[in-house]
Amino acid sequence: MDFKAIIFDLDGVICFTDEYHYQAWKAMADELGVYFDRKINNRLRGVSRMESLDIILERYDGELSADEKSSLAEKKNELYRKYLENMSSKDLSEEVKSSLLELHRRGYKLAIGSSSKNTPFILNQIGLSDFFDAVSDGNNIRRSKPDPEVFLKASEMLSIPPEECLVVEDAVSGAKAGHAGGMKVACLGDASKAKAGDYNLKGFSDLLDIPALSA
Ligand code: BG6
Ligand code: MG
Repeated sequence: MDFKAIIFDLDGVICFTDEYHYQAWKAMADELGVYFDRKINNRLRGVSRMESLDIILERYDGELSADEKSSLAEKKNELYRKYLENMSSKDLSEEVKSSLLELHRRGYKLAIGSSSKNTPFILNQIGLSDFFDAVSDGNNIRRSKPDPEVFLKASEMLSIPPEECLVVEDAVSGAKAGHAGGMKVACLGDASKAKAGDYNLKGFSDLLDIPALSA
């Protein structure tokens, strides 16, 4: 069946904020004396802030109270937001921008499905606040990826059933979430390398060549 809508993950798909997440977690982990590298970072893709912290703390020798954990997560977010503050429409690549415009021109409904609570801020920074037909994010879900909630909410907001939605993801957890929601998934980056999708793409503009997304 051809798709009617495309639901994009944000960090690592629409923009490269995944690198800022890594830098901010790395600074926090270094300060705590906890080993953290890019391979471990791949496990944080798509999962919520507090779950990300728990993954990093698997290597922490000791116990932290809930308050200590929330202040670590808050500190990481403050540093992350500093990176975000420097973002502008220049951080939206030409490839992503022109592909989004082309998919819109072809008549597909376009939405965001992100675990991030910073989604509205990021979309504003890169000049996409009013572009998408629906935005489902970390502020309106209770369970983060690999649970399908964020994508199912997006499909509901668009009034398009899951089987007619294509999810675009860079996270293995996100690809699992799309499949759990009954959607087909196109993967980029880490998830594409892991062959987690129905389509495993090299770059964002390869979406334009998927036959079920034809003009
Ligand atoms: C996802 C990222 O988009 O958002 C995760 O892939 C991140 O790495 C999650 O942990 C939550 O982000 P935020 O901005 O709410 O801390
Ligand atoms: Mg992502």
